[in-house]
Amino acid sequence: MTANAIRFLRRGSIVEYRDPNPMRTVLDYLRLEEKSKGTKEGCNEGDCGACTVALGSLHGDRIVYEPVNACILLMGHLHGKELVTVDDLADHGQLHPVQQAMVDHHASQCGFCTPGFVMSLFALYHAGKRPSRQEIVDQIAGNLCRCTGYRPIIDAAVASCTGSALDRWAKSADQSARLLAAIADADVMISNGAGFTAIPSHAETLTKLAADNPDATIVAGATDVGLWITKQFRHLPKIIHLGHVKELHRIEDRGDHLAIGAGATYAEAYVQLAQIDPDIGEALRRLGSTQVRASGTIGGNIANGSPIGDTPPMLIALGATLTLRHGDKERTLLLEDFFVSYGKQDRTAGELVWRIDVPKLKSGEHFRAFKLSKRFDQDISAVMAGFKFTVDGARITSARLAFGGMAATPKRASATEAAIRGARLADEASWNDTIAALTQDFQPISDMRATAGYRLEAAQGLLRRALLELSQGRTSATRLLEAAQV
Ligand code: FAD
Ligand code: FES
Ligand code: FES
Repeated sequence: MTANAIRFLRRGSIVEYRDPNPMRTVLDYLRLEEKSKGTKEGCNEGDCGACTVALGSLHGDRIVYEPVNACILLMGHLHGKELVTVDDLADHGQLHPVQQAMVDHHASQCGFCTPGFVMSLFALYHAGKRPSRQEIVDQIAGNLCRCTGYRPIIDAAVASCTGSALDRWAKSADQSARLLAAIADADVMISNGAGFTAIPSHAETLTKLAADNPDATIVAGATDVGLWITKQFRHLPKIIHLGHVKELHRIEDRGDHLAIGAGATYAEAYVQLAQIDPDIGEALRRLGSTQVRASGTIGGNIANGSPIGDTPPMLIALGATLTLRHGDKERTLLLEDFFVSYGKQDRTAGELVWRIDVPKLKSGEHFRAFKLSKRFDQDISAVMAGFKFTVDGARITSARLAFGGMAATPKRASATEAAIRGARLADEASWNDTIAALTQDFQPISDMRATAGYRLEAAQGLLRRALLELSQGRTSATRLLEAAQV
């Protein structure tokens, strides 16, 4: 069955939205159509968090709330979800517990950032557990405050996010879950003659639509596509959302590998990827912000072909393969072969990135990942590295070394991989030629993130550091991972 409306839950009722403009953002809908102006526009590109709203999704019979950036979220993303904004929180003049805590702890001055912080904390309030201070910091890393300072905001979070939610949303959770379950399944097509918003729920509908409309824009989390609209003013008349196809969110443990649907968000894939190696979890914790990780997808991070995406170097090092689907035809290739040259991937129009198969580590295999960026949170990498070493006794028998930020695509260091074979872990001097081989693999560029010289030197330093850690059988004391656990 095909419906002709985006249906979402708002203030206890189902909204049916039929506007045919596929590029309408949730922020514009709230401020211009609904006239709910509590949600603010700051950067309009996903960076500042002023526009944060909470989206509730059904997980089994429970609703999970995640903070997202309304400025780069499209109306199609609301289908089957509950939308909660700062305008909804106070109850007959009584502030919500997170709002009250912000007042009590003097956590607002000019107040422009405050609605965004409140909504990030609203999601944390509903997380079902008392967060650690570190988890609070991670939760608000995508919310910028220029005048109050973060300590009072963190104090407000500590005071209000206690693990037990007692607000209106907690009380009406069963009723809301029933309403969401009732609107989830139909395929949606809203067309306006010149274009359409399509939100297929079924894999076959999605692949057929994409194959029949090779000129349409495929949208997953829109953490890239949203900026094409708000910053580049691109005209995208046909948009196909893939986030409603359940199969694309599936993450299956298949014994020796994970099979990750391309539509799985970073947040959905986090736990299982971090179980392969904690370095992957640490890199994902620093990818964008909580809002970006709730929307952005692993498939989008690959499909966009960016040379500075965080996940491709790690996945390439692990030996991941990519399955693409065009209509009813599937093909599988090594992930590194997908990246052909700058801006060019091995994907035809209408073909979808469908699944990523990520091998787990076997006995004798060791993994390391490093992200170098100017800021800890919410920053694109200058250099991203993923390394897998296979060690037999005291010798490295093989390695897969992949880098982002060092070339026009995410790329393996083949000359260095060849040079490292047979290296003795106990003999640090013997690594020098291996590390120097990186100059054969890469001639990086200088840009606003880093100079070519810095990139090359940093990449060599990261490889040396990984070898040192491996030879000493422990991670370095300066690891962020360890610092975060303090
Ligand atoms: P979308 O924006 O929906 O799509 C991106 C591109 O991929 C489009 O061309 C789309 O057509 C195509 N596409 C998406 N899915 C598929 C599919 N399954 N099949 C075919 N084509 C597809 N990235 C990092 O790597 N590290 C960071 O630290 C980081 N920080 C960020 C911070 C902010 C504030 C923002 C806004 C972005 C950041 N990004 C970062 C970039 C972004 O999160 C990623 O590139 C993201 O993975 C894109 O995924 P998406 O689901 O949002 O893709
Ligand atoms: Fe800055 Fe949306 S307005 S993140
Ligand atoms: Fe002014 Fe946060 S209170 S920016």
